[in-house]
Amino acid sequence: MKIAQTFVLFTALLAGVAGVADAQDQRQSVQLPPAAQESLRVEMLDNMLAINGILELMATGKTKEAGQLAETALGRSAQGKNRQKPFDARPGPHMPPAMHDIGLDGHRAASEFAKVASAGDREQAIALLPKLTGACVACHYSYRTR
Ligand code: HEC
Repeated sequence: MKIAQTFVLFTALLAGVAGVADAQDQRQSVQLPPAAQESLRVEMLDNMLAINGILELMATGKTKEAGQLAETALGRSAQGKNRQKPFDARPGPHMPPAMHDIGLDGHRAASEFAKVASAGDREQAIALLPKLTGACVACHYSYRTR
């Protein structure tokens, strides 16, 4: 047991060191105007709160409420929130089209989940949960702004 634990620790350390040595970030770097970056940051923190809220509601059997939150906070209803802002404060138009598309896919996926969950279909809603985070992962793995 002791040996196994030591081995696990050693492997973890090695992985850590390798991570530092291999600091090459392969993601595409995108420069946004500072105001757009700030809008994005606020939106992203809201996204994280929304995901957590949806998971909490699902865990406590409040499927319909989870659907409503998904639609208002992440779904197509949440799309275009920055349209009224000055151009420099809008993240979307400053993103490469492929990056922007991932964001739009995320809104669509959230609305798809929202539709099923709002109808109270818990089984199907659970099956769609990974789609809620799929766009977060897809974008974060491909792009960075800092
Ligand atoms: C279209 C691309 C895109 C999508 C989709 C996306 N993000 Fe982000 N997110 C970014 C970028 C760009 C940043 C800025 C930091 C960086 O460059 O990595 C960011 C930053 C963040 C941050 C850090 C905020 C801070 O500065 O404290 C969090 C948390 C976050 N995102 C969560 C999420 C969650 C949760 C989702 C899905 C619901 C999501 N993001 C979807 C592009 C995206």
